[in-house]
Amino acid sequence: RIPVIFDTDPGQDDAVAILFMLGAHEEIQPLALTAVAGNVGLHHTSRNARIVCEWAGRPDIPVHAGADRPLLVAPVTAEHVHGKTGLDGVPLHEPSMALADEHAVDFMVRTLREAAPGSITLCPVGPLTNIALALRRDPGCVRGIREIVLMGGAYFEAGNITPAAEFNIYADPHAAQIVLQCGAPITMLPLDVTHQAQTTAERVSRWRALPNRCGPLAANIVTSLERYDVQKFGMHGAPMHDPCVIAYLLAPELFAGRRVNVEVETTSPLTLGATVVDWWGTSGRPANVHWINQVDADGLFARMTEYLARLP
Ligand code: BDR
Ligand code: CA
Repeated sequence: RIPVIFDTDPGQDDAVAILFMLGAHEEIQPLALTAVAGNVGLHHTSRNARIVCEWAGRPDIPVHAGADRPLLVAPVTAEHVHGKTGLDGVPLHEPSMALADEHAVDFMVRTLREAAPGSITLCPVGPLTNIALALRRDPGCVRGIREIVLMGGAYFEAGNITPAAEFNIYADPHAAQIVLQCGAPITMLPLDVTHQAQTTAERVSRWRALPNRCGPLAANIVTSLERYDVQKFGMHGAPMHDPCVIAYLLAPELFAGRRVNVEVETTSPLTLGATVVDWWGTSGRPANVHWINQVDADGLFARMTEYLARLP
């Protein structure tokens, strides 16, 4: 099983990604969920992470709260996409699970320090604040990382929060740049690929038809998300941004990309948070990222259905 720390700001597609991951319990071992402020504030993201664990019958998974704001820039949220609670559109209960006592950054540093070298996969699917803080707090902890597989950035697809930037990178560009410089192997799943993984009525109907609780729940969550993406961007459905990270862990053969240099714009007001991708190798800077730009979307949705079916 792949030991994973899943760093998240749920968030509707985050919630679906968490369900997908918990369905894959034979393949993925979630050591913890670490919550960060992003789509909504930390109060909501750390609460929503626990709610999703309870939906999946996994109150045993520790949920640690982390950073409540970005390193330097003012907080930006995406309530216009995910609603005030971050999970608008589905009934939310008061979670019985308590938050873990340890701060998410302390948990990460300790776990990476105690782990065998190159053994832990970090999966950030929100702003990169927690990961950057851990790397700054204890640069040596990078040794415990096997790979960072993150959702963020855009090159061919430009931006979704500004014309130049994708939300997770824009929300904390300085943190993103720290992470890209850390020296660990990094795979990025940017809008270039997540926009190819859109829901359709047929795909979602398969989840709705599952004879469990979590399949129809996932269907309801994305139906609410679709309202935004279809209206605002004229898409067919909702891109499954964060679930792409889990699909990549389970079935990397569904994806294709290129090893390239990627840097984040941190000063220009016009293009703040843009991921500058050296697709044609013109800069001479060394490749630091495996940048994914293609996915077999039918294969991805088939996996999602298969693993959602394993949940209660
Ligand atoms: C990313 O931003 C968030 O709104 C989503 O949860 C996803 O992680 C897509 O740009
Ligand atoms: Ca997210």
